[in-house]
Amino acid sequence: MIEIIRYRRASIEDISQIEEMEELYFPTEAFGRRQIRYLLQSPNAVTLVACSDSKVLGYVIGVGRRGSPTVRIYTFCVREDYRQKGIGTSLLQRLEWECQKMGLHHLILEVGDYNLPAIKFYTKNGFVEFSRIPEYYRNGTTAIRMKKTITQPLGANDSELTETTERYKKPR
Ligand SMILES: CC(C)(COP(=O)(O)OP(=O)(O)OC[C@H]1O[C@@H](n2cnc3c(N)ncnc32)[C@H](O)[C@@H]1OP(=O)(O)O)[C@@H](O)C(=O)NCCC(=O)NCCS
Repeated sequence: MIEIIRYRRASIEDISQIEEMEELYFPTEAFGRRQIRYLLQSPNAVTLVACSDSKVLGYVIGVGRRGSPTVRIYTFCVREDYRQKGIGTSLLQRLEWECQKMGLHHLILEVGDYNLPAIKFYTKNGFVEFSRIPEYYRNGTTAIRMKKTITQPLGANDSELTETTERYKKPR
């Protein structure tokens, strides 16, 4: 069965689902409801979701700082049964597109050194490690800091990449 995935900016109505996914997939590091609300309303944040009808399948939140060309990815997640289907890559592409429109060309993030799927994902998408922070997470594990410079020029046909749909084979 084919499923239509829509990519769009996150809205306040998405808070509950993002909160639920944070608790499920980042049990020791989850952003709480108030933090999610703050991020969704922040003018410095780029917040995108992938959804099927009203169900949020994945999201990414990047935050810039005034006067800095760098956006930090605060959180990034795809529902487990929808992973490895390209949704994460599509969200990242759209985040990069939004950043470029804002004149921001550098991305940074932290990822647990044990989180091999995510490290592989980021490496495949052009991120490189630049430092490590021991005992960064509450459970005492080390963070790998990764960065990427966005070099892909804005395409002439990319008039609005964020608000688009893609077709996926629905997971069973
Ligand atoms: C990281 C994450 C967002 C990637 O989303 P995704 O939709 O699965 O990613 P995509 O399907 O677009 O990309 C797949 C690529 O990522 C890597 N990857 C993703 N999951 C992987 C896994 N379980 N094992 C190995 N590689 C994996 C591979 O490079 C893969 O490419 P390949 O299939 O050609 O080998 C997703 O795995 C996730 O939500 N993880 C849990 C939350 C998390 O750890 N977030 C990051 C916090 S820093």
